[in-house]
Amino acid sequence: MFSQRLERAAKRLTEGQIADLPDGKPVPAHVAIIMDGNGRWASERYLPRVAGHKKGADTVRSCVRSCGELGISYLTLYAFSSENWKRPLDEVDDLMGLLKIYLKSELEAFHKNNIRFRSIGDRSRLSTDIVKLIEDAERKTENNSGLTLILALNYGAQAEIAAAVRQIATKVAKGELAAEDITEVTVAAHLQTAGIPDPDIIIRTSGEQRLSNFLLWQAAYSELLFVDEFWPDFNKDILVRALEEYGCRERRFGARP
Ligand code: FPP
Repeated sequence: MFSQRLERAAKRLTEGQIADLPDGKPVPAHVAIIMDGNGRWASERYLPRVAGHKKGADTVRSCVRSCGELGISYLTLYAFSSENWKRPLDEVDDLMGLLKIYLKSELEAFHKNNIRFRSIGDRSRLSTDIVKLIEDAERKTENNSGLTLILALNYGAQAEIAAAVRQIATKVAKGELAAEDITEVTVAAHLQTAGIPDPDIIIRTSGEQRLSNFLLWQAAYSELLFVDEFWPDFNKDILVRALEEYGCRERRFGARP
């Protein structure tokens, strides 16, 4: 598994896809990002918060492109948390509006760039037109084999785990599963990320250092990286620097070297 990753990384290096990673270091298969700092980016420029979110949406586009170019297999972006509903109504409307524009405008680009689109989170509170756009994008891109882009929308890790526990409890109650057979594998298989490898690295922008209810189960062995730049300023150079830092980390998964 590890040597396969190294081989893939070396192949990409020779293909010139990843120019700057330290020699022989594995590239992460799954990068997850907590996009933070849109509001501060805007207020530093005396602009309304929505201007930060708009620029943030442009950064989403360029980040997806960069991850594809770098040969990353999975990119999960925390686009709207289950707690973000607590923001003022007009800001929630702005974020939902930008999401709608993004989903409508990117479908062609997803296809052209062989991107598979997925979404995690509780869809029941999203508007029906957004749910339809998500379902369309998931269906139309399901056979693409390049980067898998996962948008976390109305996502909260604790709610995701609670939903998994409910499903498992139901199976136990129906006699489909024995309580003593429940393992970590069982829980992971009932999360919305079932079948997706855990993130190798979680990046948070804007200097804040917390996970904010993002992929709490899946982050068990993720490398955490906090960068000072606000999300609207995030770019390919910062991403490559983060990957270089990741390449220098020693991942032991609890074992001794
Ligand atoms: C945090 O900035 C960012 C968000 C609330 C979510 C990210 C949203 C976008 C990048 C825009 C739209 C997304 C898509 C997918 C088109 P903040 O407002 O919390 O920043 P602050 O901490 O400086 O106030």
